[in-house]
Amino acid sequence: MTEAFPTTRLRRLRHHAPLRRLVRGVDLTPDRLILPLFIRDQSEGSRAIASMPGHAQLGYRQLADAARETRRLGISAVILFGIPDHKDATGSAALRDDGVVQNAVRVVKEAVPDMLVVTDVCFCEYTSHGHCGVVEQRRGIKDVDNDQTLPLLGRQAVSHADAGADIVAPSGMMDGMVQAVRSALDGASFAHIPVMSYAAKFASAFYGPFRDAAESTPQFGDRRTYQMDPAGSPGQAVREMEMDLQEGADILMVKPALAYLDILHAARQRFSGVPLAAYNVSGEFSMVKAAARQGWIDERAAVLESLTAMRRAGADLIVTYWAHDVARWLA
Ligand code: PBG
Repeated sequence: MTEAFPTTRLRRLRHHAPLRRLVRGVDLTPDRLILPLFIRDQSEGSRAIASMPGHAQLGYRQLADAARETRRLGISAVILFGIPDHKDATGSAALRDDGVVQNAVRVVKEAVPDMLVVTDVCFCEYTSHGHCGVVEQRRGIKDVDNDQTLPLLGRQAVSHADAGADIVAPSGMMDGMVQAVRSALDGASFAHIPVMSYAAKFASAFYGPFRDAAESTPQFGDRRTYQMDPAGSPGQAVREMEMDLQEGADILMVKPALAYLDILHAARQRFSGVPLAAYNVSGEFSMVKAAARQGWIDERAAVLESLTAMRRAGADLIVTYWAHDVARWLA
């Protein structure tokens, strides 16, 4: 039997701050963070996003400024979301060489050549119905048609890579999306571009503010026929991730983060050598902001604690709207 109290005293290593830091198991540094940015197809301007204080839909000049500020703070990656002027049934504006994300990639790369630019590969911002792909009606039920959407995802990814994207991130939860994107990239001499798959993405209420920000709310129904059921088991999420790995995903993402730390942990256990990302989503951001504004919660402490928990659960990298603040807090 091992000796316990009073010989063993676990408080000994908590006695002062340097000692606590010495025995830490988890760290949080700005180079683990990816900042999401929203861009409008216009040269100038900034439109505040009411539900996400501190964030705005940016014109290209403001985007270049934001990229420079991001780099200055020691953050090396951004993920771009575009709000196009024109929406149609298939989201054709997503495929244009002069589309908003394609332009935005070039703007960021010109402003900060060594910034890692990630693009979200999906159609919900570009379709008039707000769904993540081509919608078909079958037996009176409208739903996203998986296999018609796949080649379009491939084309969108190639178009982003053509513009200079460093990593593409398919987020629509279509079956086969990673393979479709991988083979399209490989066929267009982009075999070196990694795919970060939104592999275990749940149909979550925590995306609400994002849909305001990106103007991508579904016009009918919801996303439950493609995004995962929050009541799905960790094993189901692991299966989604296994399939994406087999299809060639380089980085796996779990989304949202806070309510899904068990999924992140299950992924960490199952895939020890695969980089894992957590998406600290818009609703997670807005609820802390709202409470902080009321003086009900200490924003800095709550955010650092939450992001540390994501790292502890197994995330290597974290997509977060707090990236700038975190970099300042840690400096
Ligand atoms: C889909 C996409 C969404 C988010 C990222 N990519 C929205 C959705 O699935 O409805 C949500 C991110 C957030 O809430 O911060 N293109």
